[in-house]
Amino acid sequence: MIALTLAEIAAAIGGELVDGAPEQVVDGSVETDSRLVAAGSVFFALLGEETDGHRFVPNAVQAGAALVVTERAVALPDGTAAAQVVVSDGYAALAALAHEVVARVRASSADRTDEQGRPAPLRVVGITGSNGKTSTKNMLRTILEQHGATVAPQGSFNNHVGAPVSMLRVTHDTRFLVVEMGASGTGHIAKLVWIAEPDVGVVLKVGLAHAGEFGGIEATQRAKSEMVTDLPATATALLNVDDDRVASMRAITDARVVGFGTSAGADYRIAGIETDRSGTRFTLTAPPVPHEAAADHEGGTSPVPETVDVRLAILGEHHAMNASAALTVAHLWGVPLAAGAEALASMTRAERWRMELLQGGPEGVTVINDAYNASPDSMAAALRTLAQIVRPGERSVAVLGEMAELGEFSTEEHDTIGRLVVRLNIGQLVVVGPGAAPIHQAATLEGSWDGESVYIEDVDAAVHALQEMVRPGDVVLVKSSKSAELRFLGDRLGGVTE
Ligand SMILES: Nc1ncnc2c1ncn2[C@@H]1O[C@H](COP(=O)(O)OP(=O)(O)OP(=O)(O)O)[C@@H](O)[C@H]1O
Ligand SMILES: [Mg+2]
Repeated sequence: MIALTLAEIAAAIGGELVDGAPEQVVDGSVETDSRLVAAGSVFFALLGEETDGHRFVPNAVQAGAALVVTERAVALPDGTAAAQVVVSDGYAALAALAHEVVARVRASSADRTDEQGRPAPLRVVGITGSNGKTSTKNMLRTILEQHGATVAPQGSFNNHVGAPVSMLRVTHDTRFLVVEMGASGTGHIAKLVWIAEPDVGVVLKVGLAHAGEFGGIEATQRAKSEMVTDLPATATALLNVDDDRVASMRAITDARVVGFGTSAGADYRIAGIETDRSGTRFTLTAPPVPHEAAADHEGGTSPVPETVDVRLAILGEHHAMNASAALTVAHLWGVPLAAGAEALASMTRAERWRMELLQGGPEGVTVINDAYNASPDSMAAALRTLAQIVRPGERSVAVLGEMAELGEFSTEEHDTIGRLVVRLNIGQLVVVGPGAAPIHQAATLEGSWDGESVYIEDVDAAVHALQEMVRPGDVVLVKSSKSAELRFLGDRLGGVTE
């Protein structure tokens, strides 16, 4: 964290400094997990669903925490010393500190210029959507880190803890801050927008991911729209115009709107998407002059529409959308499309277990491990990709587990996937676990299918069955929510031993 005095921290988070000198400066990492605390860290004791962080205050202090933020004063172990600020709500305090730190870095960088003398203030982007947030965040990080110090969360740190903790890693040298903003209910994204005050807010898609928690797609749409409703007129809302629910958010934001997608109305237009086993190709065309929405465009601009051929080593048409969002944000900030595309070409995967191509298993078997999470949209996108990349004479095999968090929509959505498997004429379906059983039932009830389906009760049995079943020339998609644990099956089948 940037250097702040205890008095400044206490003021920012509305807490009371019960131990420590007000003028003492703290500049260590901010942690909510005492195991990650190092000398000089700030430890937030949060009251979680499963455990109370206050229990770990002594461990944090022993590990060298300079400051602990608590909801009730905690006596420190004998012989140790740390400052302590007591607040009424640890989560709110974490948010407030992240807000303060990002605002300070923004202010201190306002007049900064790069080596060429061009403005180079801190730029912040928030990314939300039902699918593709982490993929887009990783793509954007890959592009932006070639143009300035970039802070982006590891993995999928996108909630009320992970997002502010990631944001607290900005320093006065940070040029770009990329924040994944997830939600499992109303008000979550609004809070993250308040903390980060994004210059660009991206909405990728409104789908049924986590729909059980939201209570349906309309509620999901409302939650995702919080990304744009609080943006000021000086910010940019980047909307996927191919998704009507996202495109309609144009009407509810003061921000300038830039659209991307394959639709005719897109400012940044995707065309010619092709996908095969080597990856995904498409063209992206930027408007001829910076779109009026891109008032903060800092780089050179082209008087003619700039078109770039994008080649991703990442499988699946759906990643064209994510890559285009990433290229567009970078372009709004002055990175030429060609430079962005070159950076993306170096990526071999969007993230571990996202459409990850594995070929280290049995000779001639290709595995696509996409079993980090699953929603109806991402399941359908993965199955379509499987159908597209299989070559004549090869067999497509879909190993599917439960899509979690769908609540009352669960049976119907699994049923739909079963019918899609048939429609795409997948060669072999392997359904794993009771939660996914409706996929098997729906597929076997469809008459018009040449393929076969088997239902297997658990992952271990599925590993054995698949080891018997696969043969050279098979392309095997492994897809489920994280809780169904199929990603390890995918790794074993694909020969990953790490
Ligand atoms: N535009 C898209 N449409 C459908 N599926 C997608 C799209 N983009 C990514 N996916 C798929 O969705 C899954 C999750 O991708 P990713 O982790 O990038 O999303 P996320 O929004 O960060 O998810 P989470 O809500 O778990 O954080 C992967 O299987 C990925 O291939
Ligand atoms: Mg994510």
